[in-house]
Amino acid sequence: MECMCSRRANLTSSSLANTHDSLRRCWHPVARSSEVSDTPFGAVLLGEHLVLFRSDGEVKAFYDRCPHRGAPLTLATPQAGGLRCAYHGWLYSPTGRCIEIPALGPEAPIPSRARLGSLGGVQERLGMIFVCLDDPLPGVELPEVPEDDDPAFLRGELPVVRARAGAGLLADNFLDTAHFPFVHAGTFGAGEERKVGRFDIRREPGRLSFSAGYEHSFANREDPGVAAGERPLIQTRRLTYRYVAPFHLTLRIDYLEAGGSNTVGFFVSPLSDEHYHIFSVLWRNDLGGDPARMDEAVDFEMQVLKEDLRVRNCCQGSW
Ligand code: FES
Ligand SMILES: [Fe+2]
Repeated sequence: MECMCSRRANLTSSSLANTHDSLRRCWHPVARSSEVSDTPFGAVLLGEHLVLFRSDGEVKAFYDRCPHRGAPLTLATPQAGGLRCAYHGWLYSPTGRCIEIPALGPEAPIPSRARLGSLGGVQERLGMIFVCLDDPLPGVELPEVPEDDDPAFLRGELPVVRARAGAGLLADNFLDTAHFPFVHAGTFGAGEERKVGRFDIRREPGRLSFSAGYEHSFANREDPGVAAGERPLIQTRRLTYRYVAPFHLTLRIDYLEAGGSNTVGFFVSPLSDEHYHIFSVLWRNDLGGDPARMDEAVDFEMQVLKEDLRVRNCCQGSW
């Protein structure tokens, strides 16, 4: 039986569908780098089932369907840098070309159509595997996070979250500060100003991306320098958002008096018309290089994300 919530989700998805055709020509994360090895790994993107594996360390991605009789290649065995299908044993090279059909014997020619369905592109970046199903659209690109290469920053990954709603609505939520005092009253939002000032928007010509900057005062209760009388309670914080189409978002927070910077990366991957995965990463240079403090920061960020999903998720989350 269809519930009220799913009707609401259907209304939403009719205008912001997670499987719009143009999304096939954009980059989306489908796995953490650490999840992909020589052994086939299954992923879903825009309703398509994919198989990922490494060959000589390089990530390969194909449709998860053997062109012979359609067996899933996620059941295949790694061999010679490629995959041997679990059904009739066809062997595919790392480029997806079939190089052995056991039932025909070693001498028989191999038809050219015996090759795996290839994708528009696969790239590894920021500890994730990004895939584009068809040829990338002009102006779409992979997200960049300079902090990822900066040794001053610790890096922490949140668990991948599966949720139900429009991916575009979640991207909108990430860019919206007006909800902080209401949605995040239980974490960081209680003392946040309700009035939102003007953002400095910078468009990036020729690219489907923009950045937005915002500087404002806030009560820095976590700064030990306040208790020590070295700095005032009311300090300045600069927020720098960057959006890269379709659903890649980062927020860098610079604490101008206390020093230190936090960056949150939010990479939303549409699975089906109603569901998406959220790959989220934190980078911080204010934790004294202490991994235990980073674990605490990741747990806190997870609480913040759950607060967001309470208002953006339909029916229930499934993290
Ligand atoms: S289905 Fe894969 S070899 Fe037959
Ligand atoms: Fe939020």
